[in-house]
Amino acid sequence: VVTIDRQSLRARMAPELPEGLVAHIDRVVALARTLAERHGLDVERVATAAQGHDLLRAVPPAELLARAEERLMAIDPVERADPLLLHGPVGAEELRERFGVQDRLVLDAVRWHTTGHPDFPPEAWAVFVADKIEPDKVAHEPRLAEAARLAERSLHAAALAYLDLLLHQAAEGRWRLHPLAVLARNALLDRLAIEGAGRG
Ligand SMILES: [Fe+2]
Ligand SMILES: [Fe+2]
Repeated sequence: VVTIDRQSLRARMAPELPEGLVAHIDRVVALARTLAERHGLDVERVATAAQGHDLLRAVPPAELLARAEERLMAIDPVERADPLLLHGPVGAEELRERFGVQDRLVLDAVRWHTTGHPDFPPEAWAVFVADKIEPDKVAHEPRLAEAARLAERSLHAAALAYLDLLLHQAAEGRWRLHPLAVLARNALLDRLAIEGAGRG
């Protein structure tokens, strides 16, 4: 049950977010809506998750870590080294606590929007993909164009293309990979093998 609609959530979030972040979220909502319509998904739940996804994106890393510790959340070593990764997990908790969002699908889509999750339903992949391929991000990273192209046909294929790119970037930059990104990528490979076989 969604207890707050996307417009009310936007109105309540906007005063605490920098302008650039509000603009990013608006682009993600618009694109997530389009993807949800195209793929026959629950448009309103996708839009609500897209609206809430970056509630805490502008909160400083040390503060995110403190809020996660306060809530006794399980913190992966990769998150401890790079606490910005906690803006989704802590953000989902605050959407529930502060704005009364109860919908598990919405909260989980927000919680894991940075890494993806092996058990994501299509609605959560729509939010994930929209966040990665919104126009500004493609303009800054031309290698995202492939994921953007694939999103018209398959959200799973688009998400996999993004995670493949992330894998390359992690190797190039010698960054750690979040374990959930690896698990999500493995699950997408399995999913696409099944979908490919089905297409025969
Ligand atoms: Fe984010
Ligand atoms: Fe985002």
